[in-house]
Amino acid sequence: MKFETLSNLTLPKIGFGTWKIGGDSTADPSLDSVSMTALRSALEVGYTHFDTAEMYSSGHAEELIGRVVRETKTKREDLFITTKISPEHLNPKDVFSSCEKSLRRLQMDYADLYLIHWPSTGMKLEETFTALNKLVRDGKVRHLGVSNFKLRDLKKSQELSETPLLTNQIPYRLPDRTYVENGVVEYCQQNDILITAYSPVKFRNLPVNKTLQAIANAHSATPYQIALAWLVCQPRVITIPMSFKPQHIRENFEAAEIVLTSQEIRQLNDLYK
Ligand SMILES: NC(=O)c1ccc[n+]([C@@H]2O[C@H](COP(=O)([O-])OP(=O)(O)OC[C@H]3O[C@@H](n4cnc5c(N)ncnc54)[C@H](OP(=O)(O)O)[C@@H]3O)[C@@H](O)[C@H]2O)c1
Repeated sequence: MKFETLSNLTLPKIGFGTWKIGGDSTADPSLDSVSMTALRSALEVGYTHFDTAEMYSSGHAEELIGRVVRETKTKREDLFITTKISPEHLNPKDVFSSCEKSLRRLQMDYADLYLIHWPSTGMKLEETFTALNKLVRDGKVRHLGVSNFKLRDLKKSQELSETPLLTNQIPYRLPDRTYVENGVVEYCQQNDILITAYSPVKFRNLPVNKTLQAIANAHSATPYQIALAWLVCQPRVITIPMSFKPQHIRENFEAAEIVLTSQEIRQLNDLYK
């Protein structure tokens, strides 16, 4: 695994996403078995960063993470757990209660990283960060971050956070450069804010282009692994692919080891323009 290091923290370049673990927007117990298998397999392969949210399967994804950590007797300090607060819970009272509920479901005393999942219209970031900063001071949360934030709100959050804002989690993948075009990626790189690229391989339905396939062949890798390798070769970029399939879970983890040549990186940069 390759790592991204900030002044007080080292994070693996590739973590494990949990959207769809345990359900969709509501819990679906019929998915528990396949979800637990995926989580166990991720731990076995060596993932240590797990990304979840109170919204994922209405908190059931958090419950399943808690369950698998207990079941496998994984040490809490060996894990980095990110969870997120939903946009409708950004007033201070709800921030505290959402965090308590997430920790209870995770069966953990603290979250490593707590993100505002999505900006909401009319949100009062000053008030939200007053509560978030207190969660850090109280030891309930180690680091703060945001998700889906454009430059204006990102800069404001950076000012309001008493600890360095750790990440902006954004959609970023070969065919989606929205946050490159709006300046967020460059701003984060220049300000030591990690970019957590979500939905990094969500282009299963797109025909794999010849160039991507040729690069994959050259590395005896799959196009999905190349898509991940392209993301994590960029400074300050980490990513969190999700899969139910143990083989994909392993392949995604191993993608961090692929070293792309500068010519391949140039070709991939230009791929979907
Ligand atoms: N902050 C936000 O607003 C936000 C939004 C969306 C997602 N996220 C986070 O980001 C994580 C990842 O995003 P995502 O789940 O939307 O999309 P993703 O990880 O890019 O793609 C998941 C899909 O790709 C398939 N897949 C994964 N690895 C593969 C591989 N090596 N080969 C072939 N297919 C593969 C999976 O199917 P199989 O199960 O069949 O492998 C699954 O259908 C989420 O789980 C969540 O934690 C955050």
